[in-house]
Amino acid sequence: MVPRIKLGLKLRVFLSVALFYLAALGTLTYLTIRSQKNLLLEQMGDRARTAINLMELSVAPPLYKWDIRTLRIVVVEAKSLRGVEYAYVFNAEGRIVADFHEMEEELFSVFTDEFGQRAIKSDETLVDVDHKKGILDVSKPVILGHEKLGGIRLGFDLKPMFDEMKQVTVKALLIAAGIFLLGLLVIFGIASRMTSPIEQLTVAAKHIEAGDLQYRVSLKRSDEIGSLASAFDQMAERIMHREGELKQSQDLIRRADRLSSLGMLTAGLAHEIRNPLVAIRTFTQLLPERYQDPEFRNSFQAVALKEVDRICSLINDLLNFARPSTPNVSAEDINEIVEGIVRILETEAREKEVQIYRRLASSLPKIFIDKEQIKQVSMNIILNALQSIEGRGVVEVSTRLFTKNHSDQYIQIEIRDSGAGIPGGDLENIFNPFFTTKKDGGGLGLSISHQIVQEHGGYIVVESQVGKGATFFLNLPVRPPNQQEVKDHP
Ligand SMILES: Nc1ncnc2c1ncn2[C@@H]1O[C@H](COP(=O)(O)OP(=O)(O)OP(=O)(O)O)[C@@H](O)[C@H]1O
Ligand SMILES: [Mg+2]
Repeated sequence: MVPRIKLGLKLRVFLSVALFYLAALGTLTYLTIRSQKNLLLEQMGDRARTAINLMELSVAPPLYKWDIRTLRIVVVEAKSLRGVEYAYVFNAEGRIVADFHEMEEELFSVFTDEFGQRAIKSDETLVDVDHKKGILDVSKPVILGHEKLGGIRLGFDLKPMFDEMKQVTVKALLIAAGIFLLGLLVIFGIASRMTSPIEQLTVAAKHIEAGDLQYRVSLKRSDEIGSLASAFDQMAERIMHREGELKQSQDLIRRADRLSSLGMLTAGLAHEIRNPLVAIRTFTQLLPERYQDPEFRNSFQAVALKEVDRICSLINDLLNFARPSTPNVSAEDINEIVEGIVRILETEAREKEVQIYRRLASSLPKIFIDKEQIKQVSMNIILNALQSIEGRGVVEVSTRLFTKNHSDQYIQIEIRDSGAGIPGGDLENIFNPFFTTKKDGGGLGLSISHQIVQEHGGYIVVESQVGKGATFFLNLPVRPPNQQEVKDHP
C-alpha cells in the first residue's frame, strides 16, 4: 500500500490554489506565445504576397514576349528584397526559365519538390511554411488575358523570424515565471490568512483538552471564523464554570464520603472512648477515700494520663480525617498513612473479631501525593474489607515497591481480606458511583477512590474469589508522569 502523506490544511490550500494558478498561467502563456508566432507568420506571408504581386507585374511582359534576358534581370533584382533565399520564373510547362542564382544547369529543369509541383499546377497564389528548412514558400501563376504564361516562385528565409520568435518565447516565459513567483507569494499570504485562525482554534482546543481552561482564542474578526472563535471562547468560559461547579460537588461528595466512613465507626469509637472514661470515673470516685495511698495516686495518674492521651490522639486522627483539607501534594511516607488508618479501624475490627495484620515494607521511598486523599482511599478500601467479613476473619495490609515495564516504579498497597468476595458479575461495576450491595451503603467509596488514584497517575487492580475473599492492589507511581496530574481536591 502506498503510504499516505499527511498534509497540513495550509499546505493543502496553498498547493491546490498554486496548481490551479500554474495551470491557468501556463495556458495563458502558451496561447500568448502561439498567437504571437501566428501573427509573425501572417506578417511574413503578407510581405511575401506583396513581393510576388509586384514581381508579377514586371515578369508578365517579358514572359509573354519570351524576352529571357529581361526576365533574368527582373529575377536577379529580387535579391534586393529582404530575406529572399531564392526566386524562379517558370514557363507554362513548369520549366525554370530564370533563376535568381543564375545557375545555368538549373535552367529548363522542373521542380521536383512537392510545393514546386503544386505551384506548377495551381492557378492561385500558394503560401507554405517549411519548418524543417526554415523557408516560407510562395508561388503565383503569371496570367495574361486567359492564358497562363507560367509562374513565379519565391523562397523567404524564416530563420530571423524564428530567432525573433525564440526571443519572444524566452521573454514571455521569464515574465510568466516572475508573475508565477509573485502569485505564489500572494497565494501563500491568502492561505496563511485563511488557515491561521483555524490553527489558532486548534491550539486553543488542545489547551482546553489539556486542562488549561483559561486559554482563549480572542480573534477580532467580523466574519464566520470570528463567530466561530467567539462561540469557542464562550464554550470554554462555560466549561470553566461547569468545571468549578463540578469540583465543588466533588469536594462535597468526598467530604460526605469521609463523614459516612466515620459514621460507620461510631459504635466502635463510642466504645473506645467510653472504656477509658469509665476507668477514669472509677478512679475519681475512689480518690477521696484512697487519696492518702501513694500507690493508688501514682497508678491513677499513670492510667488517667495514658487513657486521656489515647482519647486525644484518636480524636485528633478522626478530626484530621473528617476536616476538609486544603489540597496539598508533598513527599509522604505511605507506611505512615496506612498505619494511621489501620489504627483508626482497629477498634471496629476488634469489635468484629477481625484481626488486621500489617506487612509494611521497610525503606520505601517517599512519594508525592495528597496525604489526606490517600488516607481517604485507604480508609474506604480497608473499611470495605472489614465490612465484607461476617464473623471472625483476617485483613492483611501490605506495602511494597515494584517495577513495571522494567522502568516505572510504583508503590503498591495490598489489602487482602477473608470476606465474602465479589461475584464475577459485580467486579466490573464496583467502581461505578452508587453501586452497592449493602443495605446502608452509598456506593461511593470505590468510585471516589478510583478517581483519586487516577488523579495521582496510579491504578487499582482487584482480584476476588467468592467465599474466599477479595484483594485490592492500589498502585501509586513513585514519580507521577506529570505533577499536574495530581489535581487539587481536598
Ligand atoms: N473487600 C470487598 N469484598 C467484597 N465486596 C466488596 C469489597 N469491596 C467492595 N465490595 C463491593 O463493592 C461495592 C461498592 O463498594 P463501595 O465502597 O464503592 O460502596 P459501599 O461500600 O457499598 O458503600 P459506601 O462505601 O459508599 O458506604 C460494595 O457494595 C461491595 O458489594
Ligand atoms: Mg465502601
